[in-house]
Amino acid sequence: MTRPSPPPRKALEHVRLVLRGLSAALQTYRLYPSGHPNRMEAVRTVLASARDMVEASAGSGAPVLFATHHSFYLGPALLSRESISLHRLLDAFEQAQLEAVEFLPKVAEEDLDHLARILVGERPMAQDLGGLSLNRIRPRMETVDEEAKELTQLLRTYSVGLDVLRDTADRVTAGQDADIDSTRRVVEQLAAQVAGDPAQALLVTAVKSYDEYTYYHMLNVCILSLALGHAVGLRPDQVATLGLGALLHDVGKIKVPLDILQHVGALSEEQWRLIQKHPIDGAGLILVTGRDLFDPAVSIVLEHHAGYDLSGYPGLTERRRPSLPARLVTVADCFDAVTSKRSYRQPEERRQALSILQAGAGRGFDPVVVRMFVRMLGLFPVGSLVLLDDGLVAMVVRNHDRLLARPVVRLVLDATGTPCDPEEIDLSERRTDGSFVRSVERSMDPHEIGVDMLTLVVSGQVEPLPAEDDMAMPALVHEPSHGEVPPPGYVDTHNESGNAHPAPDHVRIDPEVSAPFPN
Ligand SMILES: [Fe+2]
Ligand SMILES: [Fe+2]
Repeated sequence: MTRPSPPPRKALEHVRLVLRGLSAALQTYRLYPSGHPNRMEAVRTVLASARDMVEASAGSGAPVLFATHHSFYLGPALLSRESISLHRLLDAFEQAQLEAVEFLPKVAEEDLDHLARILVGERPMAQDLGGLSLNRIRPRMETVDEEAKELTQLLRTYSVGLDVLRDTADRVTAGQDADIDSTRRVVEQLAAQVAGDPAQALLVTAVKSYDEYTYYHMLNVCILSLALGHAVGLRPDQVATLGLGALLHDVGKIKVPLDILQHVGALSEEQWRLIQKHPIDGAGLILVTGRDLFDPAVSIVLEHHAGYDLSGYPGLTERRRPSLPARLVTVADCFDAVTSKRSYRQPEERRQALSILQAGAGRGFDPVVVRMFVRMLGLFPVGSLVLLDDGLVAMVVRNHDRLLARPVVRLVLDATGTPCDPEEIDLSERRTDGSFVRSVERSMDPHEIGVDMLTLVVSGQVEPLPAEDDMAMPALVHEPSHGEVPPPGYVDTHNESGNAHPAPDHVRIDPEVSAPFPN
């Protein structure tokens, strides 16, 4: 049996717009009654993209959008980004028991109006809408293995987490309190999934967004902190509280003016000062939900930029150190921030990010926490790309406790740069003479080979980076970390307070020996 051929690239671009348009249309449909001009306008937007998609698919049959296994597909191609970011649209498809939408060339406004009404529960399911056929073709998925199932569940919780953060932003903007209970529920679910398979959870933190960078960052910091809390042996209830603070650590940025958050390029001194209010604003947002000042979640939000040596902001008095939960989150926060594109800097490789943490150990970061974190992620962190000595490019998926330079990797490109089957290779494997079969030559930047990490993590498919990903786009507005060269215009409160400490010795790791921290 032949495998269905992938849809044309142009059709993939258009289906993404169809899904985003449909998601926006459903919100409009929930707000306005039948026949309202706003509904019709929303449908016209979807129609324009749907027609473009049909046209781009000419010659390869009518395009079919599948919503199955908690994911969207166009034909056989997984739409990983939309499956994560449009979680509510996916829920609407599932509730309507709608698994396949075939777009015919005669698709018209009334068909899409009908579809939207089915998705919001106003109309019963129908099969033939004229220009759309619903559930005529059924998705035929290959059996999903246990590991893939776990990953799907984790990504689903991730997307619910994104929704919780979007809701939090909406509530705060509308003058309401954040909903701590639903935030805690997501964190508890994530905590259980991270405990079940930490390596897979860490892999998911390689997922970055190009439009909702701050929410993805908060989710990634939450997952990294949960894994770290687990690794340092905290009790499950402590891990959950750590995760709650980590998920909300940058919640104060909701109050940062939008023109600063969407600023492209270097920021001014005044803009940095406004950004530096976010720990206090964030702690305030959590305190008004009725939590006390000594709640670890409050201390995490308030102290995550205070610095191990208290040289950061806001200044903490009568304290020797920030709280332990805040010190743990600070390290996870720095790692995710420096590996994300920021408004003034391109992302660092995951390997390089660990060096930045090590360079700031004893100043910005608790040196013991840095050591634990480096040990947890490995010499080549899970989710990083590596070039092997035979020219293959692979992604690190698991690390061994010992032999840190020899992780388990998943193949991405062959030696000619062609995408290859995602076969897993254990680099600790030896030949009969004792020599290693393959070794890492060096770590690689995803930008170097132009690979979209999200699709790679989710499906193992190699896709080029989205076109909008360039420095002209706004990106995560995030402070430079201790150990990094600050960008022009950055206000370093560390220097202003005048209590800078000398740089400590760096933690050195010998890759071929053993873990830097005793078991
Ligand atoms: Fe922050
Ligand atoms: Fe952050």
